[in-house]
Amino acid sequence: MSLLNDIEPLKETALAELKSAPDLAALEQTKGAWLGANGKFTALMKQLGTLSKEEKPAAGKFINAAKVELEAALAERRAELELKAALPKEPTDFTLPGRRRALGKLHPLTQVTEDIVRAFRKLGFAVADGPEIEDEYHCFDALNTPADHPARDTQDTFYLNVLGASRSESHAAGETPAACSLLLRTHTSSVQIRVMKSQPPPVRIIVPGRVYRRDNADATHNPTFQQIEGLYVDKGVTVGDLKGTVEFVFKELLGSDVKIRFRPHYFSYTEPSFEIDFSSALVKKMGKDWLEIAGCGMVHPQVFENVGYDPEVWTGWAFGFGIERIAMIRYGINDIRLFYENDVRFLKQF
Ligand code: DAH
Repeated sequence: MSLLNDIEPLKETALAELKSAPDLAALEQTKGAWLGANGKFTALMKQLGTLSKEEKPAAGKFINAAKVELEAALAERRAELELKAALPKEPTDFTLPGRRRALGKLHPLTQVTEDIVRAFRKLGFAVADGPEIEDEYHCFDALNTPADHPARDTQDTFYLNVLGASRSESHAAGETPAACSLLLRTHTSSVQIRVMKSQPPPVRIIVPGRVYRRDNADATHNPTFQQIEGLYVDKGVTVGDLKGTVEFVFKELLGSDVKIRFRPHYFSYTEPSFEIDFSSALVKKMGKDWLEIAGCGMVHPQVFENVGYDPEVWTGWAFGFGIERIAMIRYGINDIRLFYENDVRFLKQF
């Protein structure tokens, strides 16, 4: 019977073609050529109808078995080719060095701030925070600096064209409510008021943060810069505590050869007030003997009155440092604007 004799060689050819299909597209084409509606193998099955009743079952079984074999070969080759297609075209060289991803760094001002915070934490200070958009009351009035005070001229800032919290909210109850301007805080000292109003003494805090002044930018000024405020309130606190604390922190920060000097000064929220100068090999390298670095003093009794602390019971000191100044000394930088230009070539040196 010729049909049965045809099956075996046809199947062998089909198997050979399927197994050698070079890619998935070729494989699909081969599949169509054999098993598709007009495929050569399908044609064979159609011929079954022409066979006699006796021949049909054996031939049908034979053809079906061949078809199963072809389909298995097709699936196997397809899996092989799919795997091949998923692999990279170029051979991978596993001996090549890896690609290193550039790691970012903390901004030098952040590094200095973190070091200062770390030094104060050793002394038991907690970090406090306050808003950069502040009202006049917290920034000036409560710090014993009323609207007509000349000290306001040295801290001119950016005012916001909206009216903020009414003074009655921030002042002691019973005071006449009046509108209070909002401004960008000129110093972190405003947070002293916020903290003291929110908790009873004793207080031991530092406040790192951004402040603003209406200054033109030059090598030593920028309209925005960073400060760290410190406030210590307890019974029997003295200037000696202040000096010892400041000296400890600067030695931690800038080396053990640091010397500290207090010069009398004026701030409306401290009495007595001082400016802190400091000297070290780094300062000498900048061609100077002393550099002014901070303001400080003993908290003014009026400030205690304003926040509801009894000045007969409580004493305290406060200070404010400029962080840029310290970073400039530490790293030998001579222009404050470099900190704010975001030039990666500058920033990646630290
Ligand atoms: N707020 C002052 C400034 O920005 C610095 C300062 C001076 C802060 C004396 C204080 C202080 O807490 O007691 O120039």
